Amino acid sequence: MDTSVSANTKTLKVALLGAGNVGSQVARILLTDASALAARTGARLELVGIAVRNVDAPREVEIPRELFTTDASALIRKADIVIELMGGLEPARTLILEAIEHGATVVTGNKALLAVDGPTLYEKADAAGVQLSYEAAVAGAIPILRPITDSLAGDKITRVMGIVNGTTNFILDAMDSTGAEFADALAEATRLGYAEADPTADVEGHDAAAKGAILASLAFHTRFALEDVHCEGITGVSAGDIAAAKEAGYVIKLLAIAEKISVPTGGQNNDDGGTFTTGVSVRVHPTLIPREHPLGAVRGAYNAVFVEAESAGELMFYGRGAGGSPTASAVMGDVVSAARRLVLGGPGRSDSTIEVLPVLGIDAVKTRYYIGMDAADQPGVLSKISALFAENGVSIETMRQTVHRERDASENGSAASAELRIVTHRASEAALAATVEAINGLDIINSVTSVLRVEGV
Ligand code: HSE
Repeated sequence: MDTSVSANTKTLKVALLGAGNVGSQVARILLTDASALAARTGARLELVGIAVRNVDAPREVEIPRELFTTDASALIRKADIVIELMGGLEPARTLILEAIEHGATVVTGNKALLAVDGPTLYEKADAAGVQLSYEAAVAGAIPILRPITDSLAGDKITRVMGIVNGTTNFILDAMDSTGAEFADALAEATRLGYAEADPTADVEGHDAAAKGAILASLAFHTRFALEDVHCEGITGVSAGDIAAAKEAGYVIKLLAIAEKISVPTGGQNNDDGGTFTTGVSVRVHPTLIPREHPLGAVRGAYNAVFVEAESAGELMFYGRGAGGSPTASAVMGDVVSAARRLVLGGPGRSDSTIEVLPVLGIDAVKTRYYIGMDAADQPGVLSKISALFAENGVSIETMRQTVHRERDASENGSAASAELRIVTHRASEAALAATVEAINGLDIINSVTSVLRVEGV
């Protein structure tokens, strides 16, 4: 006997905007798991309609045709809970605002919209006392936003490092395991359906930056937007970089890193014992991490988020970062949580913005660096290079040299070049940039082949 639904069970009307990969899986769960959802929430979740552009488009899930409509605004006016899974900025933004104005709880997975215009949506939701939830916007199925906002609410998060883009992780992992160049690994990712026809948002790091802004906002109780994130993609990572990193015990990952840091108020190079400013740096860039680091083990298109908190220490959250069913799982978590609150009553809970910390640019960050360079193999080269590091206050941790001897037409019949790979201790961006510029000016240097940041050591 189904004891979950009685004559007194409240009904909550649910409107779905979008029936793509994720939307159709959300519809499937709402339609097939109705009694389990009622038992978990104390309310009957009635899917009252699905707004789509084309009612007749083919869909993976069988959904009764009468649920489809092209009139999203009319559907929103009927709903207690609106699930926005259309993606893109418009009409998603306007429809979410309509839902908030109507007093409906909103669940969305639209990280691009939240990164660009989140503050407007959060403020409107706060003012209307409605809940806006978006667990699916970061790292697909992985429960990460609720652990940050609820489970770790009594702790102080100091740093979040995430592999939050599956496409780039697939590409970098393929380069690492096969030795392929970026273009070939991207072609394989496209062939297998991981990369979009236009992969720009993924490979240039924009998608990871949008997710980084959301993670930083929740971890540090301050609202950060996309423009606050320093962003570098993976298009410049070469097979040579990957091979050199591998040889030195590292793997290259595209990381979104958000961390709370204190810097001398006069700037990173003005460490005169004066006052300090505490702020948050949010950055996305290819990063060398030790192969034994938990993030180093994240293969293929999987995502993972590594959180460091004062009392909890280190935590890692791992799982599928994309795909219809996995992302629908995160959406439904928000829907169930919203339904439970609606059953109990009370206003929506807004994200905490108690800190209002300043955004610190990449110049404020001190990290370790990996520098690859191609130099002449002759007496005095190492001393000239190490002198430049010393002059700029950058301390070398390890230096490796591989000599390549090639036969040529010169007098002694051969020419030698040295491939140098240097890992530094922590240094500021400015000190590192000055060092690299000076090295590039040496006549014994053929080229600086790569400059990458190193984390997780
Ligand atoms: N394009 C994203 C990725 C999935 O590759 O991880 C959606 O956020």
